[in-house]
Amino acid sequence: MRVLITGGAGFIGANFTHQTVRERPDVRVTVLDALTYAGDVKSLVPVADHVTLVRGSIADEPLVDRLVGESDVVVHFAAESHNDNSLNDPSPFVQTNLVGTFTLLEAVRKHGVRFHHISTDEVYGDLELNDPAKFTPETPYNPSSPYSSTKAGSDLLVRAWVRSFGVQATISNCSNNYGPYQHVEKFIPRQITNLIDGVRPKLYGAGLNVRDWIHVEDHNTAVWAIIDKGRIGETYLIGADGEKNNLEVVQTLLEVFGRDADDFDHVADRPGHDMRYAIDASRLRDELGWEPRFTDFRSGLEATVDWYREHESWWRPRKAAVEAKYAKTGQ
Ligand code: NAD
Ligand code: DAU
Repeated sequence: MRVLITGGAGFIGANFTHQTVRERPDVRVTVLDALTYAGDVKSLVPVADHVTLVRGSIADEPLVDRLVGESDVVVHFAAESHNDNSLNDPSPFVQTNLVGTFTLLEAVRKHGVRFHHISTDEVYGDLELNDPAKFTPETPYNPSSPYSSTKAGSDLLVRAWVRSFGVQATISNCSNNYGPYQHVEKFIPRQITNLIDGVRPKLYGAGLNVRDWIHVEDHNTAVWAIIDKGRIGETYLIGADGEKNNLEVVQTLLEVFGRDADDFDHVADRPGHDMRYAIDASRLRDELGWEPRFTDFRSGLEATVDWYREHESWWRPRKAAVEAKYAKTGQ
């Protein structure tokens, strides 16, 4: 099987590429990645002998046409992925998340190639704290940010290409991932690397916002389950019942680092900050028999801390610029 992985030099895509090389020796992997600020060739070094890396954009029609024509399956991770960046400048989000996905859809339509679209729970907007409800595949779309609205738009393009053109596609909407190779702009790696540097973690607002954490390896085993066994045209929600508020996450990290529980700073809140995400993954569990393996958040977090301690050369070159950018918005 020839698999084209878009965004394979980013956080989740790189972990997916590693997992695929490790567990699927029959798969021939090509990665298409623009190597934006968020992509890093170093993330693919451990699998470099088994992967063809093509540097280019998913919005580059001739390039996409050629690569899709040489593939059996496209797994589409590439995106502008950070909410805070989308509030500063939405334009690359429209270009990559909408125009890029459109370009890929036209190519898979032309070549009759199977497509799996990676998306986010943020397309559903947010839930109230203490509401027993969780997101299901039937929850109406209600995105809040430029990031989540462009992801929502990309999902709708996929649905329309399935219905109107018979494209062989599936969609997954996953909750917040953590694990190795995540960019230091994101919440957990930002606080881990702050703590390594002896800097106090930064909590937006009161820190009561809830995210539904899943280890990136579990996200990726779910993606393979959907590619292997998912029904064409279906949407699968991926989550591992990992709801925690941001304060709890910071205090767990402080404990892991042997620091006091109040040794953090409250900083400016994110405009339009979604309060709570929570996933009901029953379709994935019941229909496809998927189960997460990393169910102990504390030990998953400890392993992630160890990874950042051992891979300083991977994250260090980006840290100062990320912090300088946050300083401009008081975060
Ligand atoms: P990331 O920002 O770490 O990586 C994105 C990758 O896409 C980078 O390698 C970047 O270079 C590449 N890219 C960006 N624009 C491109 C373009 N025009 N052409 C080709 N490559 C391009 O993102 P991530 O956190 O790994 O997220 C991957 C996917 O998973 C995204 O679609 C995101 O919406 C989705 N997702 C992420 C999470 C999460 O918690 N991080 C949760 C659910 C869904
Ligand atoms: O839910 C899935 C989404 O999860 C993905 O679609 C996105 O690509 C991914 O970035 C993530 O979005 P969030 O906005 O939830 O993740 P982020 O890591 O930016 O922030 C997580 C929470 O932590 C959020 O409530 C904001 C808060 N936060 C973030 C940073 C960077 C802080 O309190 N302090 C911080 O320094």
